Amino acid sequence: ATPHDADLVVFGGTGDLSMRKLLPALYHCDRDGRLAPQTRIIALSRGGLTDDDLRGKVDAEVRSAVPEGDDPEVWRRFLARLRHVPVDVRDDGDLHEGWRDLAALLGGNEDRDRIFYLASPPMTFGPFCRQAQQAGLVTPRSRVVLEKPLGRDLASARQINDEVGAIFAESQIYRIDHYLGKETVQNLLVLRFANAFLEPIWNSLWIDHVQISVTETVGTPGRRGYYDQAGALRDMVQNHLLQLLCLVAMEPPARNDRESIRDEKLKVLQSLRPISGSEADRFTVRGQYAEGPGMPGYLDEPDRSPPTDASYRVETFTAIRAEVKNWRWAGVPFYLRTGKRLPSRRSEIVVQFKDVPHSIFPGGSPNRLVLRLQPSEGIDLHIMAKEPGAGEVTLRPVPLGLSFARTFGTRVPDAYERLLMDVMGGNPTLFMRRDEVEAAWRWIDPILATWDSAGTPPEPYPAGSAGPPSAHELLGRSGRAWHEEEPA
Ligand code: BG6
Repeated sequence: ATPHDADLVVFGGTGDLSMRKLLPALYHCDRDGRLAPQTRIIALSRGGLTDDDLRGKVDAEVRSAVPEGDDPEVWRRFLARLRHVPVDVRDDGDLHEGWRDLAALLGGNEDRDRIFYLASPPMTFGPFCRQAQQAGLVTPRSRVVLEKPLGRDLASARQINDEVGAIFAESQIYRIDHYLGKETVQNLLVLRFANAFLEPIWNSLWIDHVQISVTETVGTPGRRGYYDQAGALRDMVQNHLLQLLCLVAMEPPARNDRESIRDEKLKVLQSLRPISGSEADRFTVRGQYAEGPGMPGYLDEPDRSPPTDASYRVETFTAIRAEVKNWRWAGVPFYLRTGKRLPSRRSEIVVQFKDVPHSIFPGGSPNRLVLRLQPSEGIDLHIMAKEPGAGEVTLRPVPLGLSFARTFGTRVPDAYERLLMDVMGGNPTLFMRRDEVEAAWRWIDPILATWDSAGTPPEPYPAGSAGPPSAHELLGRSGRAWHEEEPA
């Protein structure tokens, strides 16, 4: 479809997310001809930048992040789309003077799409929307994008949803989870629902367990203010990992449309077995990285502010044994794991099938389907094969592999490119609906409450190691193990 002219107004537009993700993604969209000629990108921030200051900053900080940034003509065109307006949200109800300038820039233009992208802390979402309305900027063609985290528990998420919902209709609200924009994640739906062979065995009769693992090598230097209040459970599991779980576990939707897919995901979240009290001790693990080779521990990361009580309690690693209580999945554990300062940056979903019912060869191992979200996006089906040779039959698991980059020979676009284009095109399928977000918090809250009441610090693990020993015991006690990287 031909793109419409739009105004993309980014609150927090000079912040880290904008510089690292949104602007590079928008540049790529522009280069691929997916931004209409008159589309503008309007960054709002408290700083008193001019349009040219902003362009200078983007030129200095973003250009190097887009290898194709040296296509001077596209780059010039992209920079020309950028504007900056100093705008702040105020608690006292008075409008910051910047809103007038923004109104003047946007003009009365009701036939342009207007997208407010809130890349700012969640407590600003409600006030921003109210003040945008007060300033007369919310038109029928407006949409609002909310970045995570959407609150810090069910109550705060509801409050944000109420406040934003008082100004925007649900159909205008786009709650972003960038994991849903990743190629492999979308491919999971295609793999499951555009191929006939998997669905009949996609259940507890054939599948032993599922692992969803997002490991990162980065720590949290300079992020203590946010991270102390979040922790791995809120930062990663409530959104990214649960969304992945939903896509693995959901029933086939009747249609590929916004409500059908989200209805099915919601049912999965509602089927999650609650974990609280003593079960939280058995089924959840929380860790915090300590000093490791050449790397400081969480508490010693350089930051503006010193560690507080919250810093001692916050988890930088978590592993959970979840269960989806329905006919298809009864008894199949879904192991979730995520953490900072682990040995590699890897996101993957591993579906481990049951063993053969009767083995006639020595040394076989069960089939595994591995969906690699990053790095090197692709899908591997590990099957047993016979090693060549005239002697005894020796089995070896070998991957039947699909690499997206190799097979399709194109650049794999960043998740934000896809999602920004979906917002511009008015397609919310890959965004979270209010009831989904709230159902996810409903499952997370009792785990958090149990951890809080325990009053014990998380289990330490050395930075750069494979996480706390309990994470391995979580699977080990039922004779299972985390899927580790294949030796190259
Ligand atoms: C963000 C989290 O949502 O996801 C970060 O706030 C995390 O803590 C990031 O590092 C991981 O995203 P990706 O796309 O790099 O796996």
